[in-house]
Amino acid sequence: MSVTVRSFAKINLGLRIGALRPDGFHELRTVYQTIALHDIVRVSVRRGSGIEIRCDDSRVPTDESNTCYLVVERAMVELKASGRVVIEIEKRLPVQGGLGGASGNAVAAVLALERVLKKEMSAPERLRIAAEVGSDLPLFLVGGTVLGVGRGEEVYPVPDLPAIVCVVATPEIGVSTPKAFADWDLLVSREPEVSGKLTLPAASDRMVEFGRVLSAWLGSQSQIKQKQDKHKSGRALSGVPVSKGRGRAETLLLDLVRTGIENDFEQVVFPKYPELREVKRVLERAGALYASLSGSGSATYGLFAAREAAEKAAARLRTDGVPATATTTLTRPQYWKKIFD
Ligand code: C5P
Repeated sequence: MSVTVRSFAKINLGLRIGALRPDGFHELRTVYQTIALHDIVRVSVRRGSGIEIRCDDSRVPTDESNTCYLVVERAMVELKASGRVVIEIEKRLPVQGGLGGASGNAVAAVLALERVLKKEMSAPERLRIAAEVGSDLPLFLVGGTVLGVGRGEEVYPVPDLPAIVCVVATPEIGVSTPKAFADWDLLVSREPEVSGKLTLPAASDRMVEFGRVLSAWLGSQSQIKQKQDKHKSGRALSGVPVSKGRGRAETLLLDLVRTGIENDFEQVVFPKYPELREVKRVLERAGALYASLSGSGSATYGLFAAREAAEKAAARLRTDGVPATATTTLTRPQYWKKIFD
């Protein structure tokens, strides 16, 4: 028996890099958002032993270094299962793209494996083995809008941003995440007046500030919802202004943009790859409510109020030779429904 699942991608709505920790990782604060772009992962368990990974894309490792291998190896032990696990990956997302493709594949493989074996780990157990394998895996066990703290592996579901149209550009540039973190360390050590000196207190101040921004934003979400519910029921509005003609997703996003949420990686990745800064500019000029690098890139996205403007922006980027697709963000219920559809 085999089980086929969708392995979705993520974008980062803001990413703040803090201090380098003694374990070699950086303290992070980010908001992950799952999107509809995906790979396909098929898992079967046969007679024998071992883990076999099949993928047509030569850039995907098929040995023990693949995140699918690492996490499935742990899952088989945890599930006390035996057999030869065959994982087939149909790659559609870019490799090393800032969209969490490999991490999503690994989580998808575990979810499919549990269905094949008709056995389940507890949710905390699943989160533990995912975090052991990589900082970007656990978010895919939550889906929708997710707060990531620690090294990004400590994840909390936050109220979902309503689904919104999104253009994802995937320039053919491989940005190394460890190198981008190292460049960030260099930047903050060289230019304390620009980025805030990365002494531990300064770095933790930056984290606290992100927490405040996020808390204010999440707080405004429920206020906006209350306003709109009142508006719908015809009662008088007071307090928080809700822009006329704007949907909730759009209002929330504009709110987020006003708080000044940013991806710190842009400061080290854009100077190195100016073409990525240009992609962001194209998206902004095309009317994106918010545009940003995702993770350490090279994927760069724009969030749009209308599908038509998004399609136009994607077409414009493709004309410039940059692969780009108009898609949508996925709320938590949509994410979980579509994985197994
Ligand atoms: O956890 P993951 O395997 O995705 O991390 C890849 C590399 O990125 C780490 O080995 C580390 O160099 C860097 N990293 C970091 N701080 C984080 C996450 C990743 O320095 N929070």
